Amino acid sequence: MNILLKVRNLSIKFQTKKGIIEAVRDVNFNVHEGETLGVVGESGCGKSITNMAIMGLLAENAIITADELIFNGKNLLTISTEEWQQIRGKEIGMIFQDPMSSLNPCYTVEQQLTEVLDIHEPNLTREEKAQRVLDLLYNVGIPAPKDRLKAYPHELSGGMSQRIMIAMAIACNPKLLIADEPTTALDVTVQQQIIDLIESLKVKFNMSVIFVSHDLSVVKDITDRIQVMYAGEIIETGKTDLVINQPKHPYTKGLLDSIPSFHTTKTEELFSISGIVPDLHHRPQGCQFYARCFNKKDDCNVSTPKISEVENREVRCIHTL
Ligand SMILES: Nc1ncnc2c1ncn2[C@@H]1O[C@H](COP(=O)(O)OP(=O)(O)O)[C@@H](O)[C@H]1O
Ligand SMILES: [Mg+2]
Repeated sequence: MNILLKVRNLSIKFQTKKGIIEAVRDVNFNVHEGETLGVVGESGCGKSITNMAIMGLLAENAIITADELIFNGKNLLTISTEEWQQIRGKEIGMIFQDPMSSLNPCYTVEQQLTEVLDIHEPNLTREEKAQRVLDLLYNVGIPAPKDRLKAYPHELSGGMSQRIMIAMAIACNPKLLIADEPTTALDVTVQQQIIDLIESLKVKFNMSVIFVSHDLSVVKDITDRIQVMYAGEIIETGKTDLVINQPKHPYTKGLLDSIPSFHTTKTEELFSISGIVPDLHHRPQGCQFYARCFNKKDDCNVSTPKISEVENREVRCIHTL
């Protein structure tokens, strides 16, 4: 499979009042054409900023370095502002956690979708754009799409709003869709519908997908591979069934054991990983997960473990399970 996105030795630092923090470090991964990559980890682990770096949307106080950041043959570290505009929204689409705050409350569904086409597909005629908008609404499962054209965001449910956001993200047939916690803000009943929709659109439009979630159970059924992040580092990557069924890193096992009714029965108490993620201003010297690890040994806090290959997976742990 061809590599669509290649990330080598990505580091994201932030200048803060209390000094410089390295929020993401030594991050290496590929996204292949047609693949769905799941990215999981607790809140604050660097999932969103890694994707923001790929979209060129990091905050002003960010310092980003990488050996390689290549999307579809283009070096994202050196491209111009115009080229970014071409990539963002056209070649890479992105959807976020909160659809309500991502849509503009002052414009109708039709106006917002048409605007995306105005920017990226200026050669289409008005009629072609109108048809494209209707096709998009149909593709994202909006019932009676014609009647929804004049609707404003406040007239839509959370699930419908997320469908509109997805329509905007895929409007120009992107090669890569980044879905950052796209179901986290939605009602449980709607969550699965949105997951199924993303999965079906991926196949229909032959996209690659980066699906980010703090919840492993959300990504386990729809991803080809899973990448687990902890304190800004990738700590385990591998084929989804391997990672889910035989986790090698104690943190991955902890995340799996925290899923209700996945490994536990109803009568068992739900497991949760004790402790909290390290303060990035005071990173521990060795393994970042040391303080919380049930499998730690004396040599774990000497130096930060490197990624190594263990049974067809890449794991950042010197005492793998
Ligand atoms: N502009 C910023 N300035 C300082 N720190 C930031 C900034 N943006 C993000 N961070 C920090 O980077 C870390 C990773 O954040 P994020 O990628 O949003 O985590 P996740 O998406 O995994 O929940 C967090 O500790 C967050 O506080
Ligand atoms: Mg996030």
